[in-house]
Amino acid sequence: MMPAGQDSFDAIVLGAGGAGLMCAATAGQRGKRVLVIDHADQAGKKILISGGGRCNFTNIHTAPDRYLSANPHFAKSALGRYTAADFLALVERHGIAWHEKTLGQLFCDGSARQIVAMLLNECDAGGVTIHLNHAITSISHADGHYRVAHGDRLAIAPALVIATGGPSIPKMGATGFAYDLARQFGLKVVEPRPALVPLTLGGEDLLFRALSGVSAEVIARHRKTAFREAALLTHRGLSGPAILQISSYWRHGESISLDFLPDQPAGWLTEAKRTRARITIMTALRGLLPDRLADVLADRLGLVGDLGNIPDRKLQEAEQRLRGWTFTPNGTEGFAKAEVTIGGIATADLSSQTMEARRVPGLHAIGEAVDVTGWLGGYNFQWAWASGWAAGQAL
Ligand code: FDA
Repeated sequence: MMPAGQDSFDAIVLGAGGAGLMCAATAGQRGKRVLVIDHADQAGKKILISGGGRCNFTNIHTAPDRYLSANPHFAKSALGRYTAADFLALVERHGIAWHEKTLGQLFCDGSARQIVAMLLNECDAGGVTIHLNHAITSISHADGHYRVAHGDRLAIAPALVIATGGPSIPKMGATGFAYDLARQFGLKVVEPRPALVPLTLGGEDLLFRALSGVSAEVIARHRKTAFREAALLTHRGLSGPAILQISSYWRHGESISLDFLPDQPAGWLTEAKRTRARITIMTALRGLLPDRLADVLADRLGLVGDLGNIPDRKLQEAEQRLRGWTFTPNGTEGFAKAEVTIGGIATADLSSQTMEARRVPGLHAIGEAVDVTGWLGGYNFQWAWASGWAAGQAL
């Protein structure tokens, strides 16, 4: 079908998520004529479901080393120029009440809807045109202009911004569209995989699935990376913040370890033998961990009888195991359950200042579509705001 109407803009932003809206508002308020196109029926759908409906919109400890990317330096420029404090100032200008929950994570007191409304107001202030419910049917580039066919219209602009996110949570409208488009223009894509995602267990670890619902504070480790937070045992394997964090570093075939004794000084078990010789390992563990977990761990350690009758060496070995309990997950719960996608449009092909493709003038990529992935806790939205702002300044 031929498009019925043709509209000219300075920039076309594909995707009305956090990154796209921030980019459009920034460019619009600089006097640029901006069009945002999204196939969803609502803007900012992932913002609406984020943080349990309260949106963990940034993290005051944002720093480049809390992001994963093939180029760990790429995010520095954008994160340095548009900071958590900048976004917080915007939130406050809009009168949105907020609080710090834990570990620097900032949430709305009220609802994530306030963040979407704020971004839409900012777009409005920049005269941005937003077309929702519009499927993008074709994109071409000739004579210095991008032509985007969407719905029954054709939009033309010298700049195009890819802000269509990654494929995590496909039922929310998430797609791999950004990667197809990037490849169409000759950009490379770092293999996307699910991140901030529960891990699944099989084999010998299956026993732990019987503990579904039990959680404990642990230190989760993958090589030199460690997170101290809660781990949750599920009917499929492992979840909870500590596991989601470490999942971003884990790859198929690798192991992770959990320290079930994060607060106990070294030698805790041999010390317990001296002070409470009559108790079993199970009882000692029950004093620290949920009973069901303590029982399974004690059972797996296989040391029966009172501590007083167990040689120190055996107790030291048991303590070592409890401090580095190894799991070899057999997979993840996949993109259907992943909070974000790791990998994406290769940063090597983009300017870290402007997010513009080095060899394709006018083409930009921002947000989750790009190979920059933050920790759990507001870091991913901060990347969406910062990269969106950087591109918005450059359009
Ligand atoms: P985002 O995915 O938000 O937006 C992309 C837009 O493009 C969407 O509107 C989509 O409809 C549109 N689109 C996709 N394909 C298209 C196509 N083919 N045609 C047209 N439009 C298309 N982060 C954080 O920092 N704090 C938090 O509290 C949370 N919580 C959270 C909870 C849950 C359940 C999830 C799934 C994720 C989070 N996140 C998070 C991560 C955060 O949501 C994510 O990093 C950002 O939304 C990424 O913003 P983008 O704008 O890049 O993509």
